[in-house]
Order: sequence, then structure tokens, then C-alpha cells
Amino acid sequence: MERPYWSPEGIDLDRPNAARMYDYALGGSHNFAVDREMVERVEAIMPGSSLVAHANRGFLRRAVRFCVGAGVRQFLDLGAGIPTVGSVHEVAQALVPDARVVYVDVDPVAVAHGRAILGGNPYATALPGDVRKAAQLLGDPEVGSLLDLSRPVAVLLIAVLHFVPDADDPYGIVAGIRDRLAPGSYLVLSHGCPDEEPEAADQVQQAYRGTATTLPLRDRAHVQRMFTGFDLVEPGLTWATAWRPDEPEPERRELLAGVGWKR
Ligand SMILES: C[S@@+](CC[C@H](N)C(=O)[O-])C[C@H]1O[C@@H](n2cnc3c(N)ncnc32)[C@H](O)[C@@H]1O
Repeated sequence: MERPYWSPEGIDLDRPNAARMYDYALGGSHNFAVDREMVERVEAIMPGSSLVAHANRGFLRRAVRFCVGAGVRQFLDLGAGIPTVGSVHEVAQALVPDARVVYVDVDPVAVAHGRAILGGNPYATALPGDVRKAAQLLGDPEVGSLLDLSRPVAVLLIAVLHFVPDADDPYGIVAGIRDRLAPGSYLVLSHGCPDEEPEAADQVQQAYRGTATTLPLRDRAHVQRMFTGFDLVEPGLTWATAWRPDEPEPERRELLAGVGWKR
């Protein structure tokens, strides 16, 4: 396959990739045929599942607005994806123009596109990085040049830890981040959960085995465990569509979402 101008050298164009599948589900154009086919496959197993991406973005927007309202002025978005419309910096900087945002993603397409979008924005940047090495990221001088971690920050782990297998200890990753955060910081997290439709979820997980990442969905108790050491703000851990909706919207039950506060 020919490499398009927006795609960095050396990336695997032949295997579906989570960032580009998510981009397609949101209506973006930074994806390849393999990514689109995979989204259609998942859609055939679980009709309406592409809407999960929209439900997730709705949660992201509301949670960022909540954090700004709570006084947070800096955001670290881990597993940020391709920054399509309604990304963290757009939401936060519309309310506070000098809100700081650092996007991190393991996918080079997401980082390259993020940099292109953010060019000229002095308060936001996109960096390559792996959430599994979060401790290293928090100490990264580039992160430190924009974020002051001695002050409250909102760390976003939105729809990313369900790509991190148990072997990489997602609970330990969150705990390591928590221990580095100043009191008054927030954890904004959403995570795929199979509780409502276990059989379809199982088939989706099987389908993901052919992609660059596996999809270790987790039940409510395990997602809740990720908030250890944080106080869950109201309404607690809910389906993403039910977390402080601006107006009633059709409920989707694939993704749990919550915001935790560090005392
Ligand atoms: C479903 S998208 C979610 C994007 C964004 N957080 C949102 O909710 O709109 C998942 C993103 O996580 C990224 N990702 C997966 N594993 C990762 C890892 N180990 N470290 C950093 N990013 C990762 C993928 O590249 C993809 O961009």
C-alpha cells in the first residue's frame, strides 16, 4: 500500500490499529482500509458499537469541562489518539485560553497529526510515549516544560487501558501515576466493560486478536479498582453516556467512565 503524506515512515499499514480505527469510527480521515474493515467487523458483531466512540468523546468533553470548573489548568492525556474535533485542548482552552495540555500516544500517526494540529499553540503539545512507561513519562523534561506536576493536573486515561494486558499491570500503572500527582489532581478514565453483553464482547475480543493490540476488557470491579486512592466524584463509575450528561442521551453500555479526585 502507498503511504499517504500524513503517515510517518515505518508504520505498519497492513494491520488494523486502535488509533486509526477509532478515528474512522469518529468520522475522521486518518485511517486505512484494514482499519475500516476491522471497525465494520466489530460493528457486525455488536451493531451500533461505532457509537461507543462518540459516547466516549462526549464523556471526555464533559469531564474536561468538569475539571476546568474544579480549577484544573493542566491536562496530561495518555493514549490521546488522533486529536479530532472536541479534543482536550479545544475544550479546555475555550474556557481558559492558557490551559496546558500534553498529548501522549504510542501511535506515530496520532503524534504526527497532533503536532500538525497544535503547531503554533504555545500551551499544548503531542509527544510519543507508552502509557506502560507512565512513570518515565511523568519525569520527561518535555512534559515538565509545559506541566507543573507540583500543582494539580488532570490525567486522562480514556479508552486506553483496555489495550493494556494484565501482564503489564494496568493497576500498577495507575497507582504509579497517582503517587506522582499533587493533591487536588484528577484521574479521568474510561474503559471497555463486557458485563452487559458478555458473548458479543467475547467475539469482539477474538476479532481484536488480529490487530496490533489485544483488547483486555474488564468488569466493573476491576475498572473500579483502577480508582484506588482516588475519591470518585458524583455520579461515580457509570456508563459513559450516564456521566453527567448535558441532556439525556441514549444509553450505551460498553464503556465505564469515572473521574477520581486525589485528596
Ligand atoms: C480508542 S483510542 C482513544 C483515544 C482518546 N483517548 C479518546 O478517548 O478519544 C485509544 C488510543 O490509545 C492508544 N494506545 C494504545 N495503547 C497505548 C499505549 N500502550 N501507550 C499509549 N497509547 C496507547 C492508541 O494508539 C489509541 O490512539
